[in-house]
Amino acid sequence: MLFKILVILHTLGATVWVGGHLVLAATVLPQALKQRNPDRIHHFEEHFENFGLAALLLQVITGLWLTWIYFPGFQNFLAFDSFLSTYIAIKLGLLLGTIALALHARFFIIPNLTKETLNSLAYHIIGVTTLAVLFVILGSGIRLGGLT
Ligand code: HEM
Repeated sequence: MLFKILVILHTLGATVWVGGHLVLAATVLPQALKQRNPDRIHHFEEHFENFGLAALLLQVITGLWLTWIYFPGFQNFLAFDSFLSTYIAIKLGLLLGTIALALHARFFIIPNLTKETLNSLAYHIIGVTTLAVLFVILGSGIRLGGLT
C-alpha cells in the first residue's frame, strides 16, 4: 500500500513540476521573448515558484523513498548491474543538473533580469524543461521495465 501511495504522489508531483515548466517554456516564454518583457516571467514565477519547488521536493522525497524500497538501505543501487540502478542513477544526475540550473537562474539571472539578460534566462528555462521531460521518460522507463 505504501509503495502505491508513493508512486501516486510521485506521479502527482511530476505533473506539477513538468506541466508547470512546459506551460512556462511553451506559452509564457515565447511571449516574453517576443515582447522583450521580463515581467511576464516574473508574474508566472510569482505564482509557480513555491508550488513548483514544493513539487520538486516531493519528487526527491518520494523518489528516494521508492529507491529505498527497491534497494533497502540503498545497498547496491549505484552498482549499475540492472536497468533500475542505471535509470535511478541517471535520475540523480538529472536532479543535480536541475538544481545547478535553478540555483544559477534564481541567484544570478532573475535578480538582474532585464531585456538584455532575458535570452540567458530563456536557455535556463529550456534546459530545466528538457531535464523535466527526461525525468518523465526515465521514470516511465522504470515502470515499463526498461525502455529498450
Ligand atoms: C522532477 C523530478 C522527477 C520527475 C518529474 C519524476 C517522474 C517520474 C515518473 C513520471 C515516474 C513514473 C511513475 C510510475 O508510473 O511509476 C517515475 C518513477 C520513478 N522515479 Fe521519478 N521523477 C523525478 C525524480 C526522481 C528522483 C529524484 C528519484 C530518486 C532518485 C526518482 C525515482 C523514481 C523511481 C524509483 C521510480 C519508479 C517507481 C515505480 O516503480 O514505478 N524520481 N518518476
